[in-house]
Amino acid sequence: MYEATQEEKDKLNEVFVKCRNCQKCSLCKTKTKTVFSAGVPNHKLMLIGEAPGYYEDQKGEPFVGKAGQLLDKILESVGFSRQKDVYICNTLKCRPPENRDPLPDEKAACREYLDAQVEILKPRIILLCGRVAVQSFLDTKLGITKIRGKWFAGPNNSKMMPIFHPSYLLRNDSREKGSPKWLMWQDIQEIRKVYNQMD
Ligand code: URA
Repeated sequence: MYEATQEEKDKLNEVFVKCRNCQKCSLCKTKTKTVFSAGVPNHKLMLIGEAPGYYEDQKGEPFVGKAGQLLDKILESVGFSRQKDVYICNTLKCRPPENRDPLPDEKAACREYLDAQVEILKPRIILLCGRVAVQSFLDTKLGITKIRGKWFAGPNNSKMMPIFHPSYLLRNDSREKGSPKWLMWQDIQEIRKVYNQMD
């Protein structure tokens, strides 16, 4: 019942085609593939990351490198899978050279595609994965460590939660209580709980 309709999938495809031909910023000159989305178009759960890296750019799919493999494990730890439950996209659809931070004009140019994805699917839960995604939706100077795990009001009455980016977790190996990995485990369980409570 949460799966997107054929009409919504068609609309997403139209946006994808437009995005693939986009020349609004210079990243279109250096990208290999446009990285639009992965997972299933649905109305319940969307995850928004930062921007494609090397492997995503090669494959044309978000979160397929090491960070993506960890993301899949985190989702699977509470029974979510990319094949069934979650729509995954990024703030930028083209890779910034050398994986540098997205520039303000690149984020602005790409925003219409992200907004269209959110507007077409109207997900009930939006996970903001890492600082760049958080800054795209929340007007806050607080760092991710301060606001992760908290619910915020999102577009179309959605609930939005900032979560750690898996790349950050890969750099912080400890699983001790209070460590980033341990906090991520708390957050994903909370997300699962709220997801389950939705009708
Ligand atoms: N990091 C992101 O934020 N997105 C990807 O698609 C890959 C790595």
